[in-house]
Amino acid sequence: MKAFVVCGSPRLEGNTQNLLEVVCDSLNKKNIETELVLLHDKEIKPCIACEKCKETRDRTCATKNDDFNSILEKMIKADAFIIGSPVYFGSATSQTTSLLHRAGYVARANDNFFAGKVGAPVVVARRSGQNFTYAQLLFFFTISDMIVPGSTYWNIAFGKKKGEVTHDEEGIKTVQHFAENTADLLFKLKA
Ligand SMILES: Cc1cc2nc3c(=O)[nH]c(=O)nc-3n(C[C@H](O)[C@H](O)[C@H](O)COP(=O)(O)O)c2cc1C
Repeated sequence: MKAFVVCGSPRLEGNTQNLLEVVCDSLNKKNIETELVLLHDKEIKPCIACEKCKETRDRTCATKNDDFNSILEKMIKADAFIIGSPVYFGSATSQTTSLLHRAGYVARANDNFFAGKVGAPVVVARRSGQNFTYAQLLFFFTISDMIVPGSTYWNIAFGKKKGEVTHDEEGIKTVQHFAENTADLLFKLKA
């Protein structure tokens, strides 16, 4: 089984990527294949509400001249989808929200194709806003009829400079346990 993991930070090798790599390692240890895609070098334009996805119903977004549709394809194929974002002014990054707006809308135009998949957000900030951003991102998963595994705390961690998040012991443990729960859930759902 496969988990598709997206890092919504524009910063290469930053804290969100660090934390998602921890998630991937823990999933791999539990025999879940992972693919981590970084949005830092991708272009994801915003949803323009053209509503063409409701007409074509072909599981794609009508905005074709960016990286969105190739990422959506990976989301559709995966058993689990995990998105990580840093907190920017108390919210997720624009790259992250553009991806989720378009993916969520295309899915709803196509019989909710994320239904029954497993997924959850992971959030990093220097000081504050993790809970708001975690909640903000949860809205995508729960309206998409997805199943969200928990952990012993919310999937949040602290860090400002690149690499700082690796010193947040509780944050690391939380996302490791989240990944273990995700793997266990995937195997239970498949049984
Ligand atoms: C535009 C911008 C806005 C930010 N807003 C917040 C914020 O509201 N709260 C906070 O604690 N940190 C904030 N930060 C700090 C980042 O969340 C923090 O540096 C994080 O580790 C960045 O993750 P990354 O290394 O994956 O890019 C902000 C950073 C930037 C660049």
